Amino acid sequence: MGEMLVVKDINVYYGSIHAIKNVSFHVDEGEIVTLIGANGAGKTTTMHAISGLLKIASGEIDYCGEILNKMPAHKIIRHGLAQVPEGRRVFSGLTVEQNLLMGAYTRKDGREAIQNDFDMVYELLPRLKERRSQAAGTLSGGEQQMLAIGRALMCKPRMLLLDEPSMGLSPLLVKEIFKTIRNVNRQGVTVLLVEQNAKMALDIANRAYVLETGKIKMEGEATELANNIEVRKAYLGAQ
Ligand SMILES: Nc1ncnc2c1ncn2[C@@H]1O[C@H](COP(=O)(O)OP(=O)(O)OP(=O)(O)O)[C@@H](O)[C@H]1O
Ligand SMILES: [Mg+2]
Repeated sequence: MGEMLVVKDINVYYGSIHAIKNVSFHVDEGEIVTLIGANGAGKTTTMHAISGLLKIASGEIDYCGEILNKMPAHKIIRHGLAQVPEGRRVFSGLTVEQNLLMGAYTRKDGREAIQNDFDMVYELLPRLKERRSQAAGTLSGGEQQMLAIGRALMCKPRMLLLDEPSMGLSPLLVKEIFKTIRNVNRQGVTVLLVEQNAKMALDIANRAYVLETGKIKMEGEATELANNIEVRKAYLGAQ
C-alpha cells in the first residue's frame, strides 16, 4: 500500500512566530500514524495546515497525488480528508442526528448512500443511536467526542485527522475512544492521530513522530518509540 499523505518540509508562521519548522512526515494507506508532543509543540498547527485552515509559508503537502498547498478547506474535505477538531465542537443546539447530517453536507451521492452511512456510524457508535434525538449539548464529554468522530465519518473520508480525541476524558472513556479509532481504521479509514496521551496513541498506532517546539525530533515504529528511553522519560512518565 502506497503513501497517502506526504508532508514535505513545511513551515508555518503566526506573524513572526515560527510555529512549524521544516516538518516532514508521511502516512501510508491503511495506517494509523500518530504525532505526539507536549503543549504548544505544533500539533494542531500541523493539522490545520493539512486541512487547509492555515497557509503554509513553504514546503509541500501531497494527498493522494494532489498538492493541497493552495486548495481551500471545503475542497480538501471533498477529497475525502476529514478533520475532527480539538475540543470536539459539536453543534450543541442540534440533535445527535442533525449533527451527523451536517457531516454529510458535502456529499452528492444521494439519500440512500447517506442512510447507509448513518447505519454504519450507529453500528460503530451504538451510544449515538440511543441518543439520536437528544441535543448534542447535553451529551457527556466522551459522547460528544464520539459524535464529532461520527460526524467526520459521515463525509465518507478516506483519511481522518484526529486532534487530541482523548482530551478531558476519564481513563475509561479514553479507552473507549481509542477502541473506536481502531475500529474506524479497520473499516478502511487511514488515520492521522495527534495526541498528548502518548501511551494510548503509541498503543494503537503503526508508526509515530515526536514533535518538539515545531520540529520532528524522532520517528519510528510505534512499538519501537514506546520502548525508547528518551520517549519514555519525556512522554511516558518513566524515571
Ligand atoms: N493563532 C495563533 N497566534 C499566534 N501563535 C499561535 C497561534 N496558534 C498557535 N500559536 C503558537 O504556535 C505554537 C504551536 O501551537 P499549537 O496549537 O499547534 O500546539 P499544540 O501542539 O496543538 O498544543 P496543545 O497540545 O496545547 O494543543 C505555540 O507556541 C502557540 O503558542
Ligand atoms: Mg493542539
